[in-house]
Amino acid sequence: MNCPYEPYRIKVVEPITFTSREERCRLLHEAGFNLFQLPAESVAIDLLTDSGTSAMSDSQWAGLMLGDESYAGSKNFYHFEAAVRSLCGYRYVVPTHQGRAAEHVLFAAVVKPGMCVPNNMHFDTTRANIEHRDAEALDLVIKEAYDPHCELPFKGNMDVDRLEAIIERVGPDRVPLVLITITNNSGGGQPVSIANIRATSRLLKRYGIPLFFDACRFAENCFFIKEREPGYADVPVREIARSLFSLGDGCLMSAKKDGLVNIGGFLSVNDERWARAITNHLILVEGFPTYGGLAGRDLEALARGLEEVLDEDYLRFRISQVRYLGELLARGGVPILKPIGGHAVYINAREFLPHLQQHRFPAQALAVALYREYGIRGVEIGSVMFGTRDSPAEEAAYPELELVRLAIPRRVYTNSHLAYVAESVVDLFQHRDAIRGLVMTYGAPQLRHFTARFEEE
Ligand code: F0G
Repeated sequence: MNCPYEPYRIKVVEPITFTSREERCRLLHEAGFNLFQLPAESVAIDLLTDSGTSAMSDSQWAGLMLGDESYAGSKNFYHFEAAVRSLCGYRYVVPTHQGRAAEHVLFAAVVKPGMCVPNNMHFDTTRANIEHRDAEALDLVIKEAYDPHCELPFKGNMDVDRLEAIIERVGPDRVPLVLITITNNSGGGQPVSIANIRATSRLLKRYGIPLFFDACRFAENCFFIKEREPGYADVPVREIARSLFSLGDGCLMSAKKDGLVNIGGFLSVNDERWARAITNHLILVEGFPTYGGLAGRDLEALARGLEEVLDEDYLRFRISQVRYLGELLARGGVPILKPIGGHAVYINAREFLPHLQQHRFPAQALAVALYREYGIRGVEIGSVMFGTRDSPAEEAAYPELELVRLAIPRRVYTNSHLAYVAESVVDLFQHRDAIRGLVMTYGAPQLRHFTARFEEE
């Protein structure tokens, strides 16, 4: 295994605070064993998310000083608009303060009660925003995505046959749009191939249904296409991205990921009527269309981030660094989801803790143990996030995968940090029998993982 090296050097540093195990035990009790409720200062290595946690470059920080904070027509908006247009090629560009705001204004404009919105796999906020409009959010990823051992190069692909069957069953009028999430975050950060996107696009054209991308991690997806899809090895990632977006009718993006910024998002569409409806709603909930809930300086940082993320030295390092952590874990015998994803390593909690049944929340229990023993914070992607009941009743529905995601913030941690993480997880694996399950004592009806509370068995 080669140790990848960072294609940048470090100019500013932020100290990490270390806590004792006793302190972490106390904090866990106070937080109801929910890692979202911990003070971030008590975390040594924070792999909760890769969202909004990137380190910005010197150029982005310089860009902040060029913020034009005019209410309307800020020059940073025009720079941002040009950056998005040259990347995606869609006509209208609408800034939002983050991804779920883009979801909200898009679905408010086009999703009506009783409709259904298929995706390869919805992220939790996307699903919640669709269900909020009394519509159905369907996951139609290929079935191999649910097998943590199956090593397909494009395990995020849409099951095009099932998509066709669904459209036939519900009728195209009840499908306002289809989404493809690149990369498939909820299914392990797995990429979608251009061939699969082309097949989906061709099918949808037949029915006149628009195709949109949930493009948070488009650059990582496009780098995987370059690495894995025949015919793309010599194509620049920017061109791959352009061809990918040209197969759709619009996109929404949480720019907190591949936008390399701490806050921001956008929507971009071709259809004028949709753009108008979106903009009208945006003014109600986000702000005037040239700032959409962001400061001018944020738009400048984002315009620069969207350029930087296409740097292939950066992308090669990014993908290799995540793989480096995954390979260290696999070598230590830790069961992880294969192949290793683009932004995170996903630990298979069911295999890590076979003594815990799903109603004892094995992935949450594992994430809690990782924090308690080593100060490392990951995130549960399993029964807490996607389960439907908070009681251990037989009728409770549990997701197929029970994962702990170790998401790697962009340009933040060095390989030595990741080597520490790997050593810790391997050590925990050797003492896994001591990990106890959890009982949920509070669960909100929607997006319950953020506020749920637990007690140890
Ligand atoms: N879509 C996907 C695929 C995401 O991963 C996220 C956020 C969103 C939409 C929503 O964007 O947070 O800017 O409102 N994912 C983060 C995560 C929170 O940790 O995976 P947002």
